[in-house]
Amino acid sequence: MYYICIGNQQLGIMETPFIFGKIATEKNFTDREKETADLVQHFTALINTIIISPRRWGKSSLVNKAAKLAMAQDSNLRICHIDLFNVRNEEHFYSLLAQKVIAATSTKWEEAIESAKSFFTHLIPKISIGTDPTNEVSIDFDWEEVKRNPDEVLDLAEKIAKKKNLRIVICIDEFQNIAEFTDPDYFQKKLRSHWQLHQSVAYCLYGSKRHMMMDVFTDSSKPFYKFGNLMFLNKIETPCLVEFFKSRFADTGKSISDKASLLIVELVDNHPYYAQQLAQLSWLRTKDLCTVEIVREAHTTLVEQLSLLFVTITETLSTQQLNYLKALIAGEKAISSTEVMHRYQISSTTSIARSKAALIKNDILDNNGGKISFQDPIYAYWLKTEYFVK
Ligand SMILES: Nc1ncnc2c1ncn2[C@@H]1O[C@H](COP(=O)(O)OP(=O)(O)OP(=O)(O)O)[C@@H](O)[C@H]1O
Ligand SMILES: [Mg+2]
Repeated sequence: MYYICIGNQQLGIMETPFIFGKIATEKNFTDREKETADLVQHFTALINTIIISPRRWGKSSLVNKAAKLAMAQDSNLRICHIDLFNVRNEEHFYSLLAQKVIAATSTKWEEAIESAKSFFTHLIPKISIGTDPTNEVSIDFDWEEVKRNPDEVLDLAEKIAKKKNLRIVICIDEFQNIAEFTDPDYFQKKLRSHWQLHQSVAYCLYGSKRHMMMDVFTDSSKPFYKFGNLMFLNKIETPCLVEFFKSRFADTGKSISDKASLLIVELVDNHPYYAQQLAQLSWLRTKDLCTVEIVREAHTTLVEQLSLLFVTITETLSTQQLNYLKALIAGEKAISSTEVMHRYQISSTTSIARSKAALIKNDILDNNGGKISFQDPIYAYWLKTEYFVK
């Protein structure tokens, strides 16, 4: 929200034209036409899909958009969203799955309770209703019983779909977290053996830890190997972002030069979240026309805002990791050559491999089919212009 004031007179409340950190919808959503169409098709045809992309590239926004479109096309389709962000064990997973499936297939909470009672034969769900206006029904089980009868929860969606003549897509965010449950292979085997028999239910599994998602879905010895179509989400294309900035500025009676628009894209390296954030900071500084100078100023502010966080991240890195990052940032192509290793005080090729693996694991770097890049373009910029020059 943005207040326009002249003197101390408030003229009105105006929405700022950019958003970040929330799901991008409607006018805030750009590009991704092919991905949206594909995903809508997968949803309506009940094809299992796996989406992989680093953090904040727009997975949730894409899934949300495709889900709405697919449900508008098919009135018997229900899409349920589950986030495993803070789910650390099977027990929590089962209760969340049951709860969300029931909520997505019930129109009233009375119906949800009825479902919770009638669809279980062995398990006895503990049902409670929230006191907030949404009256969300929460469901819990006796863990020992679920361990004996996990089928009832795992097949719940299929059973409800058959009974109510619905088709259901279960979307699970941060799916890679299941790899951290106790005995993950056994658990995954159990999930897959049930889910692959479902005929009225499909799964859309996505996550932001590329290396972990790849481990779960592309390792031929793992249960989820070839579970569905793999989709790698890219960053947003330059022409789309340039047009997007121009039209959002125009919507609010301001404008932005082509050069300034392009500069935003370059400074954030097409990163969707930062693109909106930098555009927002630039828009706030603009009276009528946003210029290259304004964008540069906004960018400096953004880097300053984030520098404290970057210092904290950097403190956790080892000297060898930092030496490796320094070589990467300098654009060195042959980091494992003796000369380059010597120049950046990298101790050995083993050290490179170890640093690389640790930095990927900690989401600092992204390994896209062997191509190593920084996950956070602003962090890369800060390292280059602030940290390594000192
Ligand atoms: N299609 C899009 N058009 C414009 N901006 C987008 C788009 N998708 C994402 N963004 C920008 O990126 C931000 C992050 O999007 P979103 O939350 O969908 O990503 P995510 O990959 O689910 O992130 P996380 O890893 O944090 O869950 C949005 O708030 C928005 O600023
Ligand atoms: Mg998300």
